[in-house]
Amino acid sequence: MCGIIGIVGTAPVQDRLLESLKRLEYRGYDSAGIAGVVDGRVQRRRAKGKIAALQAVLTDSPLTATVGIGHTRWATHGAPNEVNAHPQSAGRVTLVHNGIIENFAELKRKLQSSGRVFESETDTEVIAQLLDAELAAGCAPLVALKATLDQLTGAFAIAVLIEGQTDMILGARRGSPLVVGYGQGEMFLGSDALAVGPFTNRIAYLDEGDYVAIDHSSAQIFDKDGKPVERPLKIVSASAALVEKGNYRHFMEKEIHDQPDACQHTLSAYLDPVSGKATAPGGVDFSKVTRIQIIACGTAYYAGLISRYLFESLARLPVDIDVASEFRYREPPVIPGTLAIVISQSGETADTLAGLRWCKAQGLTTAAVVNVHESTMAREADVIFPTHAGPEIGVASTKAFTSQVAALSALAVAAAAARGHVDATEEARLTAVLLEASRLIAQSIQVEDAIKALAPDLAKARDVLYFGRGAMSALALEGALKLKEISYIHAEGYAAGELKHGPIALIDEATPVIVIAPSDHLFEKTMSNMSEVMARGGPIILFTDDEGAKHAPPGIKVIIAPTSDDIVAPLVFAAPIQLLAYYVAVQKGADVDQPRNLAKSVTVE
Ligand code: F6R
Repeated sequence: MCGIIGIVGTAPVQDRLLESLKRLEYRGYDSAGIAGVVDGRVQRRRAKGKIAALQAVLTDSPLTATVGIGHTRWATHGAPNEVNAHPQSAGRVTLVHNGIIENFAELKRKLQSSGRVFESETDTEVIAQLLDAELAAGCAPLVALKATLDQLTGAFAIAVLIEGQTDMILGARRGSPLVVGYGQGEMFLGSDALAVGPFTNRIAYLDEGDYVAIDHSSAQIFDKDGKPVERPLKIVSASAALVEKGNYRHFMEKEIHDQPDACQHTLSAYLDPVSGKATAPGGVDFSKVTRIQIIACGTAYYAGLISRYLFESLARLPVDIDVASEFRYREPPVIPGTLAIVISQSGETADTLAGLRWCKAQGLTTAAVVNVHESTMAREADVIFPTHAGPEIGVASTKAFTSQVAALSALAVAAAAARGHVDATEEARLTAVLLEASRLIAQSIQVEDAIKALAPDLAKARDVLYFGRGAMSALALEGALKLKEISYIHAEGYAAGELKHGPIALIDEATPVIVIAPSDHLFEKTMSNMSEVMARGGPIILFTDDEGAKHAPPGIKVIIAPTSDDIVAPLVFAAPIQLLAYYVAVQKGADVDQPRNLAKSVTVE
């Protein structure tokens, strides 16, 4: 999970860049590097492995620059080695990058055919080459940056040095976060407040699509259309700099917005965009697995339910799934060849841990999809399938959930390939589709204002029903859980086909029904169920995509998420569903981050 720091300083920056990179270590990385301007020229120092390796390089060859950028790289495009480590350079441009440039292959081909020569396998170098080409064509740095950003597809953050512009660092964010730090005669860019925490507590959070130029004393910020903007300056307390809310009112809101980054970093641990391959960490051989047993609680259980659709349809693997509190006492027969997968954000949930231990004691191979990598489950499972959501503070799980879904989706592709149910071409297609998820999640968050407008009405409801089909039925369960836990409104989720077997009796004018229905092969069936609700006067909010919206009957409220492949639809629809619960809870004045009676880590039965 890449980290970024940039310093326009008045004293040598090498040690401060390293200090900041150490603070970013928690994100995970496999190489690190820094660059700085020395006598008008940019110099780089990079090393594979940990920051200690970079320190050793710097002991032999110190960097005396007072303006510099630094990076910890979590390899996505290209192996973790020195050549692929950031900063990446092309001509006058040297930059660091967090994220994925989805259209890098197409851009690289174009740049190569215009005579540009690449030295690394990274998608990052494409940004450097593009920007250098714009500068070479005579554009001023900010114009060149805007022209470059306009050509990129994907979710990313960057920090850039340009030779000849020695007291300036450029930055940009889309999908991945970037902050500006204001010091005394010095300015900073960083992936988060933690990165710039040792140097300043005065921080501005860039908005989606912003780009920026910092010099010794100021930041010129522009929005995605190139309009100069100001972003509010925040004073971040020392402890808040460890895990901070940024411009957000609640951690939950921030964590919903963290999801493009969290999912991308998680997916990068499983998917190689260059080879198009999906890999299960820990050497798990899915061709030898005959069955999967998933064990989890709450939201993590719903992530498991979503993944069942993929493991079964893509990898043809039978999946059993239980809530951990039932599983541990159920005494199910042990079926050899079963891979037991526990799913947990905290890695400490008592029931899930007991399920893991029970499976281990039965001699089953155990794997933990876990966000806290030092947790008990991470230590005790045979294999860790990591999620890289970063610390989740809001009690209601959001980014950990989507990261779990992302990890499990990638594993389903790996399993499908290992078991011969998809060929290399289809594996590469699915890999590419999953890697687009971050950008689509970032887009789906853009419906925020439309969702906020629904909150005042919904907040008056006593009961709310959610329904969907396929993986969306599991998202309906998750949506209902989110709403009830933070707004205290009674909510239930159902598989749409189940409505007429009971829940439809609850429908009346005062019971809002949330329908989650992308325009997939089940869309029409869900629409029929929706008509049954409408016929009984139930007010509907339909979450769908562009195509689905065309078929929406008049008189219902419609929220349109981006169009997506079935495999990523649960990730794309999750954020709008979470935002709905969030804004209803805010409307009700509830304690969003610490709902009554709930704990973040349930370490008792
Ligand atoms: C709901 C929520 C809980 C947790 C559950 C499991 O928003 O957060 O339902 O998902 O308590 O916790 P972990 O994932 O830590 O095992």
